[in-house]
Amino acid sequence: MGAGIAQVAAAAGHPVKLLDNRPGAAEKAVEGIRAQFAKLAEKGKISAEAAQAAGARLIPVEQLADLADAGLITEAIVENLEAKQKLYADLEAIVGPDCIFGTNTSSISVTAIGAALKRPERLAGLHFFNPAPLMALVEIVSGLATDQAIADTLFATAAAWGKTPVHAKSTPGFIVNRVARPYYAEALRLAQEGAADYATIDAVMREAGGFRMGPFELMDMIGHDVNFAVTNSVWRAFYNDQRFLPSLIQQELVDAGFYGKKSGRGFYDYREGAVRPTPRIEAAQAPVGKITVYGESGAAEALAERLETCSLSFSRAPANDGRIAEIGRAVLAVTDGRSATQRAFETGVANLVLIDLARDYTTAGWLAVAVAEQCEPEAAQAAIGLLQAAGFTVCRLADIPGLAVMRTVAMLANEAADAVNQGVCSATAADSAMRLGVNYPQGPLAWADQVGLPTIRTVLANLGASYGEDRYRISPLIQRQFFAGKKIHD
Ligand SMILES: NC(=O)c1ccc[n+]([C@@H]2O[C@H](COP(=O)([O-])OP(=O)(O)OC[C@H]3O[C@@H](n4cnc5c(N)ncnc54)[C@H](O)[C@@H]3O)[C@@H](O)[C@H]2O)c1
Repeated sequence: MGAGIAQVAAAAGHPVKLLDNRPGAAEKAVEGIRAQFAKLAEKGKISAEAAQAAGARLIPVEQLADLADAGLITEAIVENLEAKQKLYADLEAIVGPDCIFGTNTSSISVTAIGAALKRPERLAGLHFFNPAPLMALVEIVSGLATDQAIADTLFATAAAWGKTPVHAKSTPGFIVNRVARPYYAEALRLAQEGAADYATIDAVMREAGGFRMGPFELMDMIGHDVNFAVTNSVWRAFYNDQRFLPSLIQQELVDAGFYGKKSGRGFYDYREGAVRPTPRIEAAQAPVGKITVYGESGAAEALAERLETCSLSFSRAPANDGRIAEIGRAVLAVTDGRSATQRAFETGVANLVLIDLARDYTTAGWLAVAVAEQCEPEAAQAAIGLLQAAGFTVCRLADIPGLAVMRTVAMLANEAADAVNQGVCSATAADSAMRLGVNYPQGPLAWADQVGLPTIRTVLANLGASYGEDRYRISPLIQRQFFAGKKIHD
């Protein structure tokens, strides 16, 4: 991370000194960064002169005393509180009064690092994402003692470096590492409850949810040692709040040494000759029966549009009881956080097939469904046939509440809303952070606004009722905006 940050600062025109306590590491980092600049010049992204000049601005040094004239010192050393406190306390005795300290810690309290300083107001988090030269987001994290002017200077500096900074308050996980927890946690729950295999859930999250990587392949890439440690640290830091509860599935992987890609095994097998499992999709079914599309919801409109494209005849009817379509005796509706079986029982509609949220129902290639226990097999086949005729690859999950994308998006939005409600960041910052820090297709709060806060709130309430767990409690911000008839971004 240190080399990546140095590259960004040198490219922006700053002279940058690099120091590492491992002999030779700083020289090696400088060589590596110069090679990166040369590569960028080869590709025509920067001029050869610019590459040469940027490379010349990098200076490896060996002692802290060599940093005496620094204006900003960013540490990216081992993730350990005492080490970071000691480093900055030692530096404080060397540098001038205007030198700013920007820690790149991912998980340690900026307040706690600052506590070791005589002047903690000069320290803030300057949290880059990996790889720093490519990822746009920088979280500017204020500890309790951080001077707002220092946070503002770091914000302006990161912006001048071509990054998109966001302000955050020093709380566990800051923005990204907190709000992202449900992306992993809900998927692990789905797997634990036998909703589907990993490859199917990954495919649904990618192809219907629009996420760049499915949760299991992403955890395998991050490494389970790292991902599990972050989950544990956020969970402990929030005094074991059930919302962040780690998963036994991941504990098992860590216990086994199955850290993911880097160790050859994780959820998937990366060893030579291993065959990657394919997602389980439904066999082709015929769309048998009279088709009616109900209401004007996004899902209904998209279905109507897609059916028109494939010349399947259907009639339209006004919105009824949340159903979006009927085919023969089958009724299709978007999940509201209840299982299909519960909803069939409560509504008296036995032949119920629930569809998952899609990022965009008009363009999504895949869709997950759940079928009520009470549903006749022919009705389920007709409903699946209808979705297939409309161009969806259909994955049938076990009948778990909230399906995959809906439940995940509701929980991501809930966590982002809580962060905003607790003054960690603004709603705009939360959304930018998740788009730019972890490449989500949309900020979770904007996404919740698009789906509709009433729907998100109902999904969370129903998940809470289904599981009887505090984990699904609704953020007060979602409640407030809902009762006010507003969106989050109003
Ligand atoms: N890897 C990531 O994706 C990522 C992303 C954002 C932030 N971070 C944070 O950045 C920091 C570094 O992470 P990394 O993945 O680059 O670690 P790393 O182990 O790859 O690099 C740390 C470097 O710091 C050196 N070092 C350790 N203690 C030192 C000291 N006291 N003085 C000088 N040099 C010292 C090590 O020799 C090593 O070269 C951590 O705080 C981490 O939480 C990491």
